[in-house]
Amino acid sequence: MKLWGGRFTKETNQLVFNFNASISFDQKFFKQDIVGSIAHVTMLAKQGILNNEEKESIISGLNSIKKDIINGILPIDPKQEDIHSFVETVLIERIGEAGKKLHTGRSRNDQVALDMKLYTREELLQVKELLKDLLLVLHTTMKENLDTYMPGFTHLQKAQPITLAHHMGAYFEMFKRDNERLTDIYKRMNYSPIGSGALAGTTYPLDREYTASLLGFDGPTLNSMDSVADRDYLIEFLSALSIIMMHLSRFCEEIIIWNTNEYQFVEIDDAYSTGSSIMPQKKNPDIAELIRGKTGRVYGSLISLLTTMKGLPLAYNKDMQEDKELTFDAMDTVKGCLGLFTGMLSTIKFNKAVMAVSAKKGFTNATDAADYLVNHGVPFRDAHGIIGQLVLYCIEKGIALEDMTLEEFKTISPVFEKDIYEAISLKTCVEKRNTIGAPGIIAMDKVISFNEEYLKNL
Ligand code: ARG
Repeated sequence: MKLWGGRFTKETNQLVFNFNASISFDQKFFKQDIVGSIAHVTMLAKQGILNNEEKESIISGLNSIKKDIINGILPIDPKQEDIHSFVETVLIERIGEAGKKLHTGRSRNDQVALDMKLYTREELLQVKELLKDLLLVLHTTMKENLDTYMPGFTHLQKAQPITLAHHMGAYFEMFKRDNERLTDIYKRMNYSPIGSGALAGTTYPLDREYTASLLGFDGPTLNSMDSVADRDYLIEFLSALSIIMMHLSRFCEEIIIWNTNEYQFVEIDDAYSTGSSIMPQKKNPDIAELIRGKTGRVYGSLISLLTTMKGLPLAYNKDMQEDKELTFDAMDTVKGCLGLFTGMLSTIKFNKAVMAVSAKKGFTNATDAADYLVNHGVPFRDAHGIIGQLVLYCIEKGIALEDMTLEEFKTISPVFEKDIYEAISLKTCVEKRNTIGAPGIIAMDKVISFNEEYLKNL
C-alpha cells in the first residue's frame, strides 16, 4: 500500500519507485519500527486519542507481524516503498479499520528518526560489548607478560626495551578511550524524536515524555525540526567507529610485521591464518590485512554522511535516506572486525625468546648506557657522544654493548666500571623505568590494578 496516493492522478514511474524505495535496506530495523509503533500507540491511548480496544488490537497485530517476520512466515514485500509502509499495510490487512489509526500524530520523518536511533543504540551497545571482550584479552595478556622483554620502536627502528605487557597496555588505553567515546555518544543521543511529526510537532495532545520513557530514552528531543533533521549521532558514531578501526588497523599492521619471517615475534594461530594456492609454505595474515583494509571502508561511510548532510536545509530531506546503507555497513564491518581481531589476539603465540634477543640486539640499552655515564658525572651531551662511538665500534665488530670487555669500555671512557654490565642489562633497563605509565613492573602493576577496576565496572 502506498501511504501517499491521494493527491496523485498518475501512477509512479517504475524507475522512480525503485530509486526512491528503501525497503531493501530499512527492513533491517523492522523490530525497532514495530517497538516504536507500540510505544506510540500506547501513548495515543493513554492520551485518549485512541480507545483501549483500538490500542489492544493494534498492539497484538504489530506483535504478530513481528513474530511472523522473525519466524520467516511473513516475507517482507519488496514492492512496498519502505518498512514503515510494509508494517502498516500488513497491520491493516490483519486487523482492519483500527490499523488505519496507527499513524495518527506522527510522520515517517519522526518515525524513521526514531527507528534509526533505536537501531543505532543497540548496535552501539553491541560494539561496547565487543570492546570489552578485547579489553579483557589485552588485560590477561598484560598480566602474563610483565617481564616479556621486547624492543620498543620509534620510526620502526629499535629504540628502547619495553615489555609485551607495556605494548599491549598502549592498546588497552586506546580501546578504553574508544569505549568511553561510545558512552558519551550514547548519553548525547538518548533523546526521543517521536512526536515531532513531519517537522512542526502535531496538534494532538501527545505525551512525548511518556513515549520517550517507554522506549528507554532520557527524555524527548526539544526541537521538532532538529529532531527530524538531526543525524549528528550517526556522524559521531561513525567517527567513533572510524577511530576504533584506525586502532585495529595499527595493531594489525604490527601483527603483520611481527608475523614476518624476519621478525618472528608472533605466530598467528592456524585457525586465524590462510594459505596460498601456489606456495605451499605460506601461512598468511589475511585476517589482519583485511581488517586493515576495511578501515578505509568505515572512514568512507563517515565522509559520505558528512558530505550528504553538509548542504541540507532544514528540516527533513530525502538525501538523509542515504544515512542507512552506509551506517549499517560500517556497524556490521566494525562488529565483524572486532570479533575476529579478539579471536586472533587471544590465540596468537608470542615468541618470547625471539623478542628478548631482538631487544638485546638493537642497542636498545644505549640510552641507559649514556645515563650510566651521566650518573658518574659525565654531562649528558658528552655521554651521548661517547655511547655513539661505542655503538659504532660494536656495529663494526658485530657485537652488542654488553658483549664488550671492560677494557674495551675503558678505552673509550675511563669512567666505566664493572657495574656497567648490570646497568645496561635488559632487565635493569626496563625495571628502572617506574614512573607511572612506564614499563617497569612497579609502574605496570599500578596500571594493571586501575585496569582491573575499570573492567569490573564495565
Ligand atoms: N525512507 C525514508 C528515510 O529513510 C523514510 C522517511 C520518508 N519521509 C518522507 N518524507 N519521504 O529517510
